[in-house]
Amino acid sequence: MTDPSRKKVLLGLTGGIAAYKAAELVRRLTERGIEVQVVMTEAACGFITPATLQALSGNPVFTDMWDTRVASGMAHIELSRGTDAIVVAPATADFIAKLVHGLADDLLSTLALARECPLLVAPAMNRQMWDHPATQRNIAQIKRDGVIVLGPASGDQACGEVGMGRMIEAEEIAEAVSAFLAPKLLAGARVLITAGPTFEPIDAVRGITNRSSGKMGYAVARAALEAGAEVTLISGPVSLPAPAGAKVTQVETAAQMFEAVKRHVARTDIYIGVAAVADYRVDKPRQHKIKKTVEPQLQLKLVPNPDILGWVAARPKPPFCAGFAAESRNLDAYADQKRRRKNVQLMVANLAQQAIGADDNEVTLLDDAGTHRLERAPKEVVARQIIAHIAKLYGAKRRKAK
Ligand code: PMT
Repeated sequence: MTDPSRKKVLLGLTGGIAAYKAAELVRRLTERGIEVQVVMTEAACGFITPATLQALSGNPVFTDMWDTRVASGMAHIELSRGTDAIVVAPATADFIAKLVHGLADDLLSTLALARECPLLVAPAMNRQMWDHPATQRNIAQIKRDGVIVLGPASGDQACGEVGMGRMIEAEEIAEAVSAFLAPKLLAGARVLITAGPTFEPIDAVRGITNRSSGKMGYAVARAALEAGAEVTLISGPVSLPAPAGAKVTQVETAAQMFEAVKRHVARTDIYIGVAAVADYRVDKPRQHKIKKTVEPQLQLKLVPNPDILGWVAARPKPPFCAGFAAESRNLDAYADQKRRRKNVQLMVANLAQQAIGADDNEVTLLDDAGTHRLERAPKEVVARQIIAHIAKLYGAKRRKAK
């Protein structure tokens, strides 16, 4: 049975070389739990086969207005009903011109004209076609008509030229679509998030760190952005792309993370500590590399780092505070002790050995009302559930304060 809450997108392909990226786009959308129905123009079928997109989307692909697989015989109407958005990627200059004039001479352009849902387009064309005044006029007009335009980007083009007009990457389109479809549970809220590990230097080249990859924290930042929040992300050293739309500050040590949090906290409604902050740092890190020939035995003196989350929660007017606890045993008990000790509204508990560095996570949410277990799922999915829970608690806190 299909899940009625599952978002549905009609993905339209028009005839451009960027159509090959649509295979990746279908994957990226379905990974985010979005159901994809593909519709292709005749020209698009010259670049990629319907069979490929059918296999990836798990749904039959439609190319023809007169397709008899639609019971009513009204494919041009039926296919977009119950759809949350039509996304056309790639959208050629010709297709965009058709939108401007309301032309409906094939299945995709007719669906676009007869739609009741939002339309998003990702233009893809040669730089001269993009720069042409006619295209620029058309783009301005479709924006006025309420169409959302994603990209294009600048760079190498299939024709060998370099410039503006290439379609943005599948991942960027998927991210924009999923953000567009997400309920805006945190609209207007200012969210400060820490993510990743910290690195505490021993000498000029060595240091103490942990295995946090930043995946959970970055997923939480993306979920908060999707929910309409203004997001500031303070990140330890990770190799992940910055979430589009977040203000990112890169730090290395716990002390630097603390300073960055102090700078932003006054403008924060919700603080989420996902970072695996080192509890200790080396007392006096050496400026130069320690030579083992000089010091065959080495003793390091470690001193405690400040508790950033505890400090934020103890402010006179603290924001809503959520922390994460990675434990290797007694998960619920230790996490709840931490929640009470740090005086935060929510603690997200996960098993360190399963969560750290992994793509999936299984968490328990601990708050005043008790414990709520979330099933193991990709960190993206878990992050959205955490943000939905935070939005609920934050909304209740605000109502109480009024
Ligand atoms: O980055 P990934 O590979 O995706 O892994 C994600 C994760 C396992 C690191 C993440 O889900 C997680 O659990 N983060 C918290 C790690 C942890 O054990 O924190 P803690 O128990 O040391 O601290 C509890 C809370 O206090 C955390 O919110 C932490 O950010 C905060 N803290 C801790 C120490 C300190 N000096 N300052 C803090 O603010």
